[in-house]
Amino acid sequence: MTDHVILTYAGNHYRLPVVTGSAGEQAIDISRLRAETGLITLDAGFANTGSCRSAISYLDGEKGILRYRGIPVEQLAECSTFKETAYLLINGELPSQKALTRFSVLLNDHSLVHEDMKIFYQSFPRSSHPMGILSAMVNALRSFYPELQRLEEEIDITVTRLLSKVRTMAAMSYKISRGHTVVYPRPDLTYCANFLNMMFDSPVRPFEIDPDVVKALNVFLILHADHEQNCSTAAVRVVGSARVNLYTAISAGIAALWGPLHGGANQAVIETLSEVAQSGTLDRVLARARDPKDPFRLPGFGHRIYRTYDPRARIMKRMAHVLLDKLRISDPLLDVARRLEEIALKDAYFIDHHLYPNVDFYSGIVLRAIGIPTNMFTVMFAIGRLPGWIAQWKESMDDPDWKLCRPRQVYTGPNERPYVPIEDRPS
Ligand code: ACO
Repeated sequence: MTDHVILTYAGNHYRLPVVTGSAGEQAIDISRLRAETGLITLDAGFANTGSCRSAISYLDGEKGILRYRGIPVEQLAECSTFKETAYLLINGELPSQKALTRFSVLLNDHSLVHEDMKIFYQSFPRSSHPMGILSAMVNALRSFYPELQRLEEEIDITVTRLLSKVRTMAAMSYKISRGHTVVYPRPDLTYCANFLNMMFDSPVRPFEIDPDVVKALNVFLILHADHEQNCSTAAVRVVGSARVNLYTAISAGIAALWGPLHGGANQAVIETLSEVAQSGTLDRVLARARDPKDPFRLPGFGHRIYRTYDPRARIMKRMAHVLLDKLRISDPLLDVARRLEEIALKDAYFIDHHLYPNVDFYSGIVLRAIGIPTNMFTVMFAIGRLPGWIAQWKESMDDPDWKLCRPRQVYTGPNERPYVPIEDRPS
């Protein structure tokens, strides 16, 4: 493979090294570009820019491959649990039985949320979006759990606190939004069963834990656990690069994930499918998606990296069918989704633009079957993505090439001009 490229500019030749990743992908290292040539690069949305070297997740957008620490996501969805996958992402290896037990004990020990935080929850207007609440509350964790002296201990405890408490906080926000009593975590339940119990148990109707639902939630969370340098992960790395505390960096990731072009798409998919189900026709939605003058984009379709079917969407689709069958649920939105997918995949616009279902297309149907309300969908994504954000933040902290993230720009505003006193300005 080539180990450099030659850039010719203003009659001079510059040799730029080419870096090769472990799966063969190549990148031009431009770290000396400005110093040597005076030039910078311009790349809207960073579509061609590698921001770091990373050993966490690998994805091939042409072939539809996704692996965490080298292990195919299909195998993890089939055989692993979310807790074990979180450990894998954060620590780089699957845990031994002893390490997994220790991890479970720590997660249990840190699962409670400071009682004073309940007051904050109660002060948000009832109509607040849970993603706004979650982002604010995760940032507030730093005030309740101040920094520890020893860096290693601080990182370990902050990581387990986040993994455990965000799950408790998500369920708490749901309960409080409904005016119900908060349900506390239980030491005898697994990570996902505990979350479901905190969401749905009530003093008048005890929650019955269904292993099929627990499995579905595990798979949902595993499928969302990491996805290399996506928008929210990039936000965590950029904010974290200022050496801010981990809670605040994660809070920035949650804020980015909220957007409808990113994690917020799972909520938008259900809203679109419901609109189609009500109107009884797909034509309007498809026509809007194809119309270059309409800013509408079909939620759950398209991806910056995948030019083929998102492997997570394939698993999610299969799981939606299996779960609905097992729970004997007939969701009209599943039929609408299937029809929409079928038509879109044969449609010239979608074919030409390489638009396939992404992870969000079927995930809302799975969440509805579990009983999660639509406005909590993106919160579920955030719980899933947490180990990825943490792993990426940790990797950036240990990166020998670490730098404060600070892009440049090509200035297009006015050149120097004098200040004009107000009385001399045109009225
Ligand atoms: N519906 C209609 N047209 C689309 C869609 C869509 N869902 N997605 C992309 N396109 C079109 C664009 O209009 C553009 O068309 P043009 O070249 O004729 O102008 C072309 O495809 C390329 O679009 P870009 O915006 O350049 O692609 P980008 O890589 O920036 O977009 C994105 C990726 C933001 C995910 C986009 O596909 C989208 O908006 N999808 C809908 C929202 C969604 O599902 N987001 C979740 C993504 S997965 C995740 O974050 C977990």
